[in-house]
Amino acid sequence: MRKSDFGTDFHWGVSVAAPQIEGAHNLDGKGPSIWDTFSARRGKIFKNQHPQIACDFYNRYPEDIALMQQMGIPNFRFSIAWSRILPNGTGTVNQKGLDFYKQLIDSLLSAGIEPWLTLYHWDLPQALEDKGGWTKREVLHWFEEYVNVVASQLTGRGIQNWMVLNEPMVFTGAGYFLGYHAPGKRGCSNFVPAMLHAALCTGLGEKILRSHQTDIRIGSTYSCSFITPKSNSEADLKAVKRADALLNRLYIEPAMGLGFPLEELEMLRPVEKYMRAEDESNLKANLDFIGVQNYTREVAEACWYVPYLKARLVNAKKRGVPHTEMQWEIYPSALLEMLKKFAAYNPDIPLIVTENGAAFPDKLDKDNTIIDHERLQYLETHIAEVLKAKQSGIKVDGYFVWTLMDNFEWAEGYRPRFGLVYVDFETQKRIVKSSGHWYASFLDENVQVLSELENC
Ligand code: GCO
Repeated sequence: MRKSDFGTDFHWGVSVAAPQIEGAHNLDGKGPSIWDTFSARRGKIFKNQHPQIACDFYNRYPEDIALMQQMGIPNFRFSIAWSRILPNGTGTVNQKGLDFYKQLIDSLLSAGIEPWLTLYHWDLPQALEDKGGWTKREVLHWFEEYVNVVASQLTGRGIQNWMVLNEPMVFTGAGYFLGYHAPGKRGCSNFVPAMLHAALCTGLGEKILRSHQTDIRIGSTYSCSFITPKSNSEADLKAVKRADALLNRLYIEPAMGLGFPLEELEMLRPVEKYMRAEDESNLKANLDFIGVQNYTREVAEACWYVPYLKARLVNAKKRGVPHTEMQWEIYPSALLEMLKKFAAYNPDIPLIVTENGAAFPDKLDKDNTIIDHERLQYLETHIAEVLKAKQSGIKVDGYFVWTLMDNFEWAEGYRPRFGLVYVDFETQKRIVKSSGHWYASFLDENVQVLSELENC
């Protein structure tokens, strides 16, 4: 497999997110986000770790850009911290926050790296959460104001590719239903309105961005897992349908104009009481590309005692299958299956794999190297599935590794390391792992890449 097999206009890159790498949590006028306050609550994050410093990207981005340039990485997907721009969520604009992103974008462009910008990657300003956050319909106005500020300042600077939301299923599901992510709310009464408002913000954000600049590409990103049944029993097959509707279809279908998949998810039917007449059409977003984010396969079975869903996922460790440090099964063809699934909605809308990657317990060798063959193998086998998708005629136009460097993995703290680059969080030293060297040589057309896998 060679880079050239994917054609010349395929977008190769890496993805990151503001709250996971930037640090500088209160510098230059930034207001607190829900992740700042959530991580200050004892017991919420692994070892009570916090994202206050993270990778210190806010201060170190010039060196990180230089590193990406050395690695030959042509595209960088990152997000904007809302509370750096509007410290209170709405109202006063923080010019220093805007300047940071302007400088970041300009530096990327002058290094020959394309910026791919996500508007919202889970870090709602705490001031807005204090007013009810995503559960309140006002979030549509708050979001509108935020996107207008960002777009009026940052469009026309050379960013071609924009994304509205990152994985709405995860930030509403983990943050407003299960409560293990910020802001830590639980239950259907929080989840259902948050779900509606997040879904509406996709179309809203898309329209606002387009009103500022027409010659850009606007997408949004979706988490997804290939789901198979534990057995062929009718009950398990039905459990898969429900889990698939919740985990894979819930947000992309309204964006495609199909509405919420309520037939399979009766428990979400109360959403109808929050909906206004205009919502049905506003849920639709005219996406120029769909960001597909896949890491694993899930196996589902019927389970009567799980509230609402009556289904549960059987953990990979329990199933005795190969898995990553997140306990996610390593199952490369899941990515191909998800590309098929998303392409089926509209084969003309290009798909971009905006995240794919793996956490493994990396060991720093005596000579300061990290030999991470498992990650390398994970990436290589998943990229091979993208090629299969492309060769079968699916319009898949890009692949972004999650992630450039080890970072703050939400409730899991700094333990899971997903990076191509190792970060020593004491010293902030970066060390390119062997997977990073492999990706760099894969991206370098002048180097003939022998699969490292064949060598080891
Ligand atoms: C995601 C998140 C990332 C995670 C990654 C690994 O979109 O799920 O964007 O922030 O760190 O997925 O869990």
